[in-house]
Amino acid sequence: MTDAAPIETLHLTDNLRMSDSLDDLFAHNRAWSAQMERDKPGFFSGLVKQQTPRYMWIGCSDSRVPANQITGLEPGEVFVHRNVANIVVHSDLNALSAIQFAVEHLKVAHIMVVGHYGCAGVKAALSGTRIGLADNWIRHIQDVRDRHHVMLDSLPEEVRADALCELNVAEQVVNVAVSTVMVDAWGRGQKVTIHGWSFGVHDGLLQDLGLSVDGGKPLEAMYKAAVQRIRYKWSRPGETVTLLNGKPPAPAEAAPAGQPPAPEGSSAQAAD
Ligand code: CO
Repeated sequence: MTDAAPIETLHLTDNLRMSDSLDDLFAHNRAWSAQMERDKPGFFSGLVKQQTPRYMWIGCSDSRVPANQITGLEPGEVFVHRNVANIVVHSDLNALSAIQFAVEHLKVAHIMVVGHYGCAGVKAALSGTRIGLADNWIRHIQDVRDRHHVMLDSLPEEVRADALCELNVAEQVVNVAVSTVMVDAWGRGQKVTIHGWSFGVHDGLLQDLGLSVDGGKPLEAMYKAAVQRIRYKWSRPGETVTLLNGKPPAPAEAAPAGQPPAPEGSSAQAAD
């Protein structure tokens, strides 16, 4: 490690622009490792013993949405599962195995499902653009699109993809919540909460969509409230900052005067 260059002299992106050599990656890695040991002596020997993350991140594979950097978390602090467009399919053994390991073995306290604006998968789903094998994967988002087509059609065209990004997050939060892993965890009294977040590639900021599920409240009502907030937010793009700066308003306050919440009796599928 002594021969590693100081980390401040290495700017990975610049180096990669100049060269396709993978040597740059190893050089940066050596510098990073050395810097970590300088900052926190014994850091890696501590990691060897165990990982005790409090968080699980379920996000998009998009290279612009790196979980650790966005949240300022270090190795050992967040357990990550990523796929195209952050989808949790009921029968996806890859995602379910990751969630089970995180919940049952690592005992994470929070699971964040994180979508991002400008997601190519969401855009393709919205427009019906064929991109290849992934069409079949993205079909899950088209199901979300079709479920909320009344709302999406009513929104300005330029915000529909962002709205669908958030609707997809809400849908995937529900999919995690109804998995046997979560039902069993909550059934035995384990404290773990699932959150729906979105990330702005344009400003680097996370937003809490206000859908946090801990097994204690009726899931369908929470889902409907989240969908209402999304509809309200994107039908008034100019008010977005005041509405969602920090914690969003409680569901009862989300609908403005004269726009009562959807009837309780309507199904989630008709929540629009
Ligand atoms: Co994406």
